[in-house]
This record gives sequence, structure tokens and C-alpha cells, in this order.
Amino acid sequence: MSESLRRSAVISGTGSYVPEQIVTNEDLSRVVDTNDDWITSRTGIQERRKAGNDQASSDLGTEAAKLALEDAGLAIGDIDGIIVATCTPDMIFPNTASIIQANLGAAHIFCFDLSAACSGFLYALKVARDLVRSGTHENILVIGTEKMSSIIDWEDRTTCILFGDAAGAAVVSGSDEPEMGLLEEVHGADGNLGDLLKVPAGGSRMPVDPSVLADKMHCIKMQGRDVFKHAVNNMAQATLDVLDKQGITADDIDLFIPHQANIRILNAVRDKLKQPDEKMFHNVHKYGNTSAASIIVALDEASKAGRIKRGDKILLAAFGAGFTWGTAIIQWTKE
Ligand code: ACO
Repeated sequence: MSESLRRSAVISGTGSYVPEQIVTNEDLSRVVDTNDDWITSRTGIQERRKAGNDQASSDLGTEAAKLALEDAGLAIGDIDGIIVATCTPDMIFPNTASIIQANLGAAHIFCFDLSAACSGFLYALKVARDLVRSGTHENILVIGTEKMSSIIDWEDRTTCILFGDAAGAAVVSGSDEPEMGLLEEVHGADGNLGDLLKVPAGGSRMPVDPSVLADKMHCIKMQGRDVFKHAVNNMAQATLDVLDKQGITADDIDLFIPHQANIRILNAVRDKLKQPDEKMFHNVHKYGNTSAASIIVALDEASKAGRIKRGDKILLAAFGAGFTWGTAIIQWTKE
């Protein structure tokens, strides 16, 4: 193994940003035929955030990125590249990462978006980890940002209750400390199941025209029950696979941070792993499902709340449209 491949890739800073406007279940019950009791018991979600009309995903991501840089003690000039995970880019092109680069006043570093829906942040983390460990890059800004409210059909009670807007960011940095930081990961996808969760229009398959808009084909379409089953099974299996790859068991993990989709999905995964609730981090009640932002917002909150200390082993697990899934085991290095 070359010298460079012995390098660790660590998370040197995190930040998160949620828009100010809170939309409660009560608020939604005035828009569609639903109620707080149904939403809370079926999903665990009590409220979510909604970005303003003047805010796009890049704006949320920029705020999170600034906080992550501050947390890492780095300036934008120290960053070698920006990867943005999002399924709600500002526009088809230019990519959201380039817009954030301009907002941050970064140099002409590489910028690209990565599309893997709710698994996007963990896919982006893998790319950053490999770039840093290879020795070609020192610090990569990885951002998960979503304005899910921009692709929601506000007349569809089966989906509009689930999602929220948010952004989170992490700085992935090189380290000479061996066996620290991003230790192991497992990612996968099953494209045969793509129809169960999708935004059909707005791409080359179905460009937007008046009939598309009338049918709300530019909004999320989901087969909820099928998604639920696959989410539980895939997140649990990918978690067992990454533990196995690292040669440890679920009992060796100090904190699990699963994608915050729905409390019933999280509880089902917890039960499959036979772990106590205290080892599962939750914030789905406050933000709903924020797709690619979900895991990094949760990781930032767990870190800032003192739920993670240096040396702890954390396991991140995600599942989303595609279907895609991803997991990562991190040995936490920040104090
Ligand atoms: N309020 C009141 N009633 C509702 C609502 C609502 N918001 N939504 C659906 N219902 C009704 C349905 O119409 C149905 O009524 P019926 O029996 O008269 O036909 C009844 O409630 C049951 O509907 P189901 O869809 O069977 O309800 P279920 O228990 O499966 O819960 C839910 C639905 C919450 C969407 C669930 O399937 C789920 O969580 N799926 C996973 C979805 C998810 O997390 N997607 C996110 C993207 S992927 C990811 O991030 C993992």
C-alpha cells in the first residue's frame, strides 16, 4: 500500500442550517385532510421547516458550509473541492455546488452535484473520503442541501406531510492519525425499483409543459408502503454488511445516526439491530425527512449536543430513491 493510502480521512468540521419558518401538523391539517394524531403516530413528525420563496437549495447550503468551515477552523481558501448532494438543485445547470462556490468566494476549485436522493450525502462522503485518502486533495466540503418544499404536491396528503427543507455540511480532511475518521462504508442501489419513488417530470424523459404541471408530475410520487418495507430491510442489511466489513458488531457502535425518514422506519431498523433507543439519534420530529440533508444535519446536532466524543464509533445509514442506500462507520476525532 502506498504512503498516501495509509492516510485517514476525518470529519474536521460540521454545520447545519434550517429555514426559520416552521410548518406544524396543525398547519397542514388546514391545507389537506389530515390531522396531528395521524401524522405523529404514522411518522413521528411534529413539524418541519419551509424555506422562503427567495431561498434556493444553494442558499441553505451556503449557510451550512460557512458554519462547517468555522467549526473546522478553516478558511474557504483551504478547500480543494465542493461536492453537493441534492435532489432539489437550484436549476438543471449550472450545478448547485458552483453556485455555492461563488457564494463562498472560493477559488476555482472543482464543484459538482451528486444525485442519490436521501443517500446522497453518504455517497458524497465516500467520494470525498477516497479523494482525501488518495492524497490528491486535503480538504473537501461535502454539503447535503434540499428545498423539498419545491417538489411537493401540497394537495397530496400522503407525501406533503413527510418532507422538510434543510442543509448540512461537513469538511472532510486528511489526517496522519491512522485508523481514525471515515473507517468503512457500504453503498448500493437497485434501479429496478425506481418507479416506487420518483419525480417524473422536469428531466429529459418528461420535459415540463402545461399538461405536466396540471397533473403535478413535477412533484414527488411515492408508493409509501413499498418504500417503507425496502427502507427497513435495506438500511438494516447495509448496516450489518458495513459492521461485518469492519469486523465489529452493532454493540461496538456508540451512536447510530440513520436517515431521518420516519420514526417507524427508524424503530424497525433499531429492532432488527437489537439496539436500545438511547443509541439511536432522532430529530425527525423537528424537521421531517430532509433527504440528502438529513444525516449531516443530525450528525451536526449530535456533535454540538455532546452526544459524540472523541474516539466514539458512529454508524450512519441511509436509504432513498433509486433505490439507493449507503452506510459509513466513523471513529470521531473532534473533541
Ligand atoms: N392523513 C390522514 N390519513 C392519511 C394520510 C394523512 N396524511 N395519508 C394517508 N392517509 C390514509 C390513506 O388514504 C389510507 O386511507 P384508507 O385506508 O381509507 O385508504 C390510510 O391513511 C392508510 O394509508 P397507508 O398509505 O396504508 O398508510 P401507512 O401506514 O403505510 O403510512 C406512510 C403511510 C407514512 C407514507 C408510510 O407508508 C411510510 O412511512 N412510508 C415510507 C415513506 C418514506 O419515508 N418516504 C420517504 C422517502 S424514502 C426514504 O426517505 C426512506
